[in-house]
Amino acid sequence: MRHPKSILITGASSGIGRALALSYAAHDVHLTLIGRDLARLDAVAKACELKGAAVRSATIDVTDRAFLADWLVSVDRMTPIDLVIANAGISGGTAGLDGAESESQVQRIFAVNLDGAMNTIGPLLPRMTKRGRGQLALMSSLAAFKAFPGAPAYCAAKAAVRFYGEGLRGIVKPSGIEVSVICPGHVRSPMTDINEFRMPFLMDTDKAARLIKRRLAKGHGRIAFPLPTYLAARLLGCLPNWLTDPLLARAPRKAPLGRRGG
Ligand SMILES: NC(=O)c1ccc[n+]([C@@H]2O[C@H](COP(=O)([O-])OP(=O)(O)OC[C@H]3O[C@@H](n4cnc5c(N)ncnc54)[C@H](OP(=O)(O)O)[C@@H]3O)[C@@H](O)[C@H]2O)c1
Repeated sequence: MRHPKSILITGASSGIGRALALSYAAHDVHLTLIGRDLARLDAVAKACELKGAAVRSATIDVTDRAFLADWLVSVDRMTPIDLVIANAGISGGTAGLDGAESESQVQRIFAVNLDGAMNTIGPLLPRMTKRGRGQLALMSSLAAFKAFPGAPAYCAAKAAVRFYGEGLRGIVKPSGIEVSVICPGHVRSPMTDINEFRMPFLMDTDKAARLIKRRLAKGHGRIAFPLPTYLAARLLGCLPNWLTDPLLARAPRKAPLGRRGG
């Protein structure tokens, strides 16, 4: 959608969501922002207001399906939403006993990254369909193209989001709804600040937000970047496991949860 005037962003209190909120903030724009940390969300809302946007913000956990649905419908009644960016997400720590995400992390990652995205678009899609217009953007990742040891739940949840979005795109297009799936490589944010390994082609959040906004305006189905990492992820996804397993076994992993912020 070229110039969305009413935009919902989940995970707006930090990182990519925050940068997106600031890049959409303008005089004629209404922003609806969701996060959990009140102080950080308020700070983003105030910064967006200073840029002239009308802002409504709320601390809601995207896994709270019923509450979120009621709230979104009431907001959409007052200010019909043109663009939904289901961005809220978490990653795990990977240095448990078996070097993978713990069982509770696995459940939480699926609940936030997959169910949370569905909970966000679910109540709004039928309303957009009735209006015959709207755009849904689902935050996936380049991790959706190859499962990495150390982050299997994160990769699986992001792959599910990507496949869901790319499938949904074809069904809802005749109703005037655009669906875009966003697949970033490494972007500088609190999620990646904790990584102690080198992240090739690490992108600044503001640059990532500008790129996402530009491609959403063009209605791109898949917004994958940066190109070299995207090509590498696609290549890894095509190669047989006997080739990739030894390679990925040496890939760096996230730090244990205890040593992580947030
Ligand atoms: N950074 C990267 O390299 C990268 C790469 C690919 C994909 N992504 C994806 O991009 C999205 C944003 O990540 P980021 O890097 O910007 O990380 P971030 O700075 O940690 O931001 C995550 C955001 O999600 C919110 N959030 C987390 N759990 C939530 C919940 N249960 N309910 C509501 N909000 C919740 C957080 O809110 P609070 O802080 O207020 O709790 C925060 O605003 C995620 O989906 C992530 O998987 C990131």
